[in-house]
Amino acid sequence: MKKLIITFLALMCTVAGVALAADAKAGADVFGKSCKMCHGEGGAVPNPNISKMFGVPIPILSSPEVQAKSDADIKTVITTGKGKMPAVKTVTGSSIDDVVAYVRSLKK
Ligand code: HEC
Repeated sequence: MKKLIITFLALMCTVAGVALAADAKAGADVFGKSCKMCHGEGGAVPNPNISKMFGVPIPILSSPEVQAKSDADIKTVITTGKGKMPAVKTVTGSSIDDVVAYVRSLKK
């Protein structure tokens, strides 16, 4: 009986864990609203006008250089900005994890 309870608890934790995990699909929506105007579809077609305005190339998010960054690094880029990229204040809480999961999903 005790074993059964432990199994049940372990199962519940797994279910909760999945529910809490970052969601790349939700992240795609966040990306569409808050990142795409600069990074383009799938983070792969940077907006040339924005690039010109900032005077820097906008990195392709699926590139090995960007994918080499840790999740924490990407989070910091979003919350505090990096170089010419301004902090994206509209993305908060679990949406940050979701959009990071989306950026990860772009890896080729
Ligand atoms: C206003 C335009 C703009 C928006 C909006 C924007 N970015 Fe960026 N992003 C840039 C620019 C410009 C750079 C290059 C910065 C530099 O090298 O100075 C960049 C760089 C990055 C990098 C690479 C950083 C590095 O360390 O090389 C990542 C990752 C990134 N952006 C993710 C995102 C995500 C995710 C969002 C949405 C939550 C987002 N960006 C929204 C303009 C933008």
